[in-house]
Parts: sequence; structure tokens; C-alpha cells
Amino acid sequence: MLLFQVDRSEDKTLTQQVYEEIRWRILENVLKENEKIPSSRELAKTIGVSRNIVLEAYHQLESEGYIHIKQRSGTFIASGTSISHLRKKDLQNTKQPAPTDNKCSSKKNIIDFKAGNPAMDHFPRKVWGKIVKEVCIDVPDSLFGYQDESGNEELKEELASYLETTRGVVCVPDQIVITSGATQALSLITKILVTEEKDSVIVEDPVTDEMRQIFLHNGATIIPVDTDVQGIIPSNIPQAKPSFVFVIPSHQFPLGGTLSIQRRIELINFAEKQNCYIVEDDYDSEFTYEGSPVRSMQGLAPEKVIYVGTFSKILAPALRIGYVVLPHELLSDFRKLKWYTDRHNSSLEQIVLARFMKEGHFLKHIRNMKRIYQRRRTALVNSLEKYFDHFTIIGENTGMHLVVEFPVIQFDKKLLQQLYCEGIKVYPVEEYAINKGNHSNKLLLGYGSLREEEIEEGVSILFNVISKCKHP
Ligand SMILES: Cc1ncc(COP(=O)(O)O)c(C=O)c1O
Repeated sequence: MLLFQVDRSEDKTLTQQVYEEIRWRILENVLKENEKIPSSRELAKTIGVSRNIVLEAYHQLESEGYIHIKQRSGTFIASGTSISHLRKKDLQNTKQPAPTDNKCSSKKNIIDFKAGNPAMDHFPRKVWGKIVKEVCIDVPDSLFGYQDESGNEELKEELASYLETTRGVVCVPDQIVITSGATQALSLITKILVTEEKDSVIVEDPVTDEMRQIFLHNGATIIPVDTDVQGIIPSNIPQAKPSFVFVIPSHQFPLGGTLSIQRRIELINFAEKQNCYIVEDDYDSEFTYEGSPVRSMQGLAPEKVIYVGTFSKILAPALRIGYVVLPHELLSDFRKLKWYTDRHNSSLEQIVLARFMKEGHFLKHIRNMKRIYQRRRTALVNSLEKYFDHFTIIGENTGMHLVVEFPVIQFDKKLLQQLYCEGIKVYPVEEYAINKGNHSNKLLLGYGSLREEEIEEGVSILFNVISKCKHP
């Protein structure tokens, strides 16, 4: 039976909603080739819209070749219309639609609790600008030409030594390739490792939707594995021969757990047994506020773990500088693909970064940023404590975001819109979940780019709106 709901509060027309609901079912093979679907009259009655709406949607589907309307026999799914079920999650758009201004009675400055935005107001502009100028004037003409695809030698040397000291990464500079952020590193890794025979990628669930989209876009099937406050649960991995397992062991996104050594070893054993790789995304491990950061997984199994890092969080996303540390057997393929993709990252920016590191500004900047993020985190925790009696913070005392679990509250579309109209944008963990239903009372609150007073104001708005919902 074809059954779905239309939403009259959506910006999309009802015809568009009916069209999309049927289209994705056809593409995903939920509605099978030659299957008869309800008449426009029947469907209109079932979903509670006028018959004209369904007729219009059917005509659009017919004109695009998805269905045949045969006079007096009925409406049928056309053949050759389904694509692999692997694309399912991509097409379904599992995300809640973003709240919009046009549904609010007045326009406010929005306090955006988006995770992953660093403190752009603290970018070391003066020092960076000074080095940019020096580099531009000092470097030989040859450095304005094409360079090695794997990146600037000076930067790779600085990086190898930094990663060894702070993260326990075992590598020589030649194993590093500088990429356009972690995003490009993950995209190229997927292109190399995902094949027709080995097309699945195991991911933590919930997981960052950006990275999941990268895997899907590059032809992977996603196998979600439950994740608790200590990260992915290896014993829940189904029988599978994936191309790789994607994990964020130092600070799982979004739940914020650190993967225990036992689970790390279990994962490495799994990778050995199934002959696959582990891709370790280490995007924000610099910011640990208690104890010292856990060492990387790569250090435990350098030929099994591909280590991905980025300067987007420590410095700024706009730089687009990330990197990957590769096992030897993948180096040549990865370097070739990087060359075919964009030849190499901007060399001048890489030289600036290498000097920024060599002259000690980088470690100083990390120390400064740690202090700033810790203050912002404390402001968030204090504000939550000031306004709410009952909540639980999930995850480690690290990074630029935290997850708060509230008893009974469901962060659904309506509540998110109300919060937005009152001036805050928040992100339910449920949006990042592949298997839905377990996280709708949890919010992911990024504090990296918010000043302390904005954080306090944001939490007070959160409290007021939630209180009104409970006692209208
Ligand atoms: C889990 C995760 N890793 C890494 C990144 C960094 O990506 P990039 O280095 O391309 O900016 C992000 C960005 O939001 C992220 O969510």
C-alpha cells in the first residue's frame, strides 16, 4: 500500500511532495517495475489531498518516464527506473528541513550553535599576514610554479614531527599528502578503496552527515554500527567485508566519546581479518581540557590505519588545508589521484603554514585556543546549569561541541522552528542518526564560534521556549 504523509506547513507544494514521495520509492525499488499503484482518486483519499494534486504529480512522474498511465487499466511503474538501493539514504534526505526566516513573525540575529565552526574572531591575522608577506617576497621564483602533488616538503616535515609528538602517529614525511581539507582526503580515499566487489563502508551511527554524503557520493554503501558514549561498538558490526571502517576515535562526532583501547584493538583485529582499512578522522583532538589527548589509532597499526587530519578547526576552514598519512601500499595510488584531481594544494599557503609551525606560532595558537574554547565550554555548562534542573552532558570534556540530553523533550521540526524564531539555531543529534528514533531528546551544541554572552543568551532562549512548550 502506498502510504505517506504530506506536510502543509512545508515550503514545498503538495504536488511536489507527492511527486517526491513516489519518485524516491521508485528509485529505491520500494515500488517495483510494472507494479500497479493506486489510482489518483484512491491515493488522494488515502493521504488527504485533492485529486488534482495527485493527478498533477502523476503527470509529472509520467512525463519523466517513472510511470505509465494506461487508460482503463491503471497506473504502473515503468521499467528501468530503479537505481541501486545503495543510494537510498542519499535520496531520502533524512535531515530535518532547516528552520527558515519566512516562518518567523520578526527577524532576529540568530545565535547559531553549529558544531565545528571554530573561533574565527581569534584567527592569528597579524602573524599570518606578516608571514604571507615575507613568503611572497622571499621565496624563489620556482616556488610559484607547479610543485609535487603530495605537498610542500617543509610542511610535511613539520607535520610529521608534530603528529609524532602530540598524537603518536608513526610516519615519515613521505607518507603524508596535503589535501584540500579532510573532505578531499576522505573523498579520494573512498574513490581508491570503494570498488564494485568491496563497496561498503562501516560508519559510526550517529555520524557526521557531511562525511556520510562524501562516501555515498563516491559510490559506497553505508553500514551503520551503533555507537555509545565510548564510540563505535565493534561487537555490533554485522558480517561484512567492507572497504574501510570510518571512525573518529579521539572525539566521536557527534556523541563525543573516546574509543577505548579494547575497542580500538577489536577494530584493528576486524580490519586484519576482513582485509580492510580503518580510516581515522582526527579533526579536533588538539582541544582536550582534562588530562592529555589520547594517542591516535594509527600509531597502533600504521599499515592498517589511514590517518586524516585538518587545519580547519585549529586555524580556519577557509585555508582548506588538511592531510592524510597513508600506509605505504596506498601511497602511489593516492598521490596519482591527487594529481589528477587538482595537481596540488596552493604551495604558497603551505609554505606560510610551515613557517607558522616552525617559528612556534602554531603551538602557541593551540594553547590560546584551548583556553578560549575551555572558557566557552564552561560558559555553556554554567548556563545550562543555571537554567535547567535536569539534563545530562554526554561525551568527553574536549573539542568545540557537546551533546546535552534532556528528559522527555523531543526536538522536532516545530520546536526547532520556534527556537529559530526566538533567535537560536540548534541541531538535534537525531539528524545525524542513520537508524532513527534513539536521539530525539539530545541536542548537539557547538560553542566554538560563539562568545560567552551569546552562549548564555542562547541557553536562556532555549530554556524559555522549552518552558513555554511544557506549560503553554
Ligand atoms: C567529522 C569531521 N571531520 C573533519 C572535518 C573537517 O573538514 P575539512 O578539513 O574539509 O574542513 C569536519 C568538518 O565539519 C567534520 O565534521
